[in-house]
Amino acid sequence: MKLGQLLKISVDTLKKAGIEAPITDSQLLIAYTLKIPRWKLITEKNIEISDEKVSKVLNLINLRSKGIPVAYITKRKEFFGIKFYVDKRVLIPRPETEILVEKVLEKLKDRDRKIVGLDIGVGSGAISIALLKNISNLFMYGVDISEDALKVAKINAKLKFVNDRLKLLKSNLFSNLEKNIKFDFIVSNPPYISREDYINLKIEVKMEPKVALLSGKKGLAFYERIISISPKYLKNNGFVAVEIGYNQGKDVKNLFIENKFKNIEIYKDLNGIDRVVIGYK
Ligand SMILES: C[S@@+](CC[C@H](N)C(=O)[O-])C[C@H]1O[C@@H](n2cnc3c(N)ncnc32)[C@H](O)[C@@H]1O
Repeated sequence: MKLGQLLKISVDTLKKAGIEAPITDSQLLIAYTLKIPRWKLITEKNIEISDEKVSKVLNLINLRSKGIPVAYITKRKEFFGIKFYVDKRVLIPRPETEILVEKVLEKLKDRDRKIVGLDIGVGSGAISIALLKNISNLFMYGVDISEDALKVAKINAKLKFVNDRLKLLKSNLFSNLEKNIKFDFIVSNPPYISREDYINLKIEVKMEPKVALLSGKKGLAFYERIISISPKYLKNNGFVAVEIGYNQGKDVKNLFIENKFKNIEIYKDLNGIDRVVIGYK
């Protein structure tokens, strides 16, 4: 079968299954199977694909039409220009979270002494590893309640050669941290979906770990705990940076105010939606 034909069958199958981005997803899965860059699919429509490869592609398209996210099928996801290993044990890193990394990097630039940070809900390790790859004098602690997630973070830390600067720890938020440890900053993309919003999530998002998404009735439970406990674990003038959901800017800013943080700022994502809040002790 010719490549162009395989692409058409794939796109039609995904369209029929109601998949949101049938063309992109087909291209990603075909490029992955054929081990060629995605742009080549456009220029090489007439190359002949072996029956074996065709059936491999169609198997993957079948998985995708059942709602399994592309990243779980290919076991990879790019975040902040870095290729991460992912599987169903972790949340797939989102482009919105790149804003959080960008803002933390801005706050940390030009510091030449050793910096120590804490990432609460480290998941795949995306945030910590993106920060470590960009700041050589940084040491991170990454905590997660999920042992499975920590295993994936460990794989990524090794793959990206930062395992000597990322200490991974099973912990319910701060519970297993050394008693008197103090951080220069605390970063977190915690679970923040309310019970009501969870019901309406797309089927593919529901394939991600529930523990990575759901956060109490209003989605604010993790912010309440993180922001109120953080001051105890922050050095003077240390900061907390959190990612937030589309309608949580005001509530989360108020939590920072109630806990006596200073210079609190809300940053928007590329769609103009409140996405990150940062406050200083
Ligand atoms: C939204 S995901 C973020 C993952 C990753 N940091 C990212 O941005 O892609 C939230 C993470 O918090 C973890 N988590 C949930 N409850 C927790 C708790 N009580 N203590 C520590 N981590 C928790 C989940 O297992 C999950 O990995």
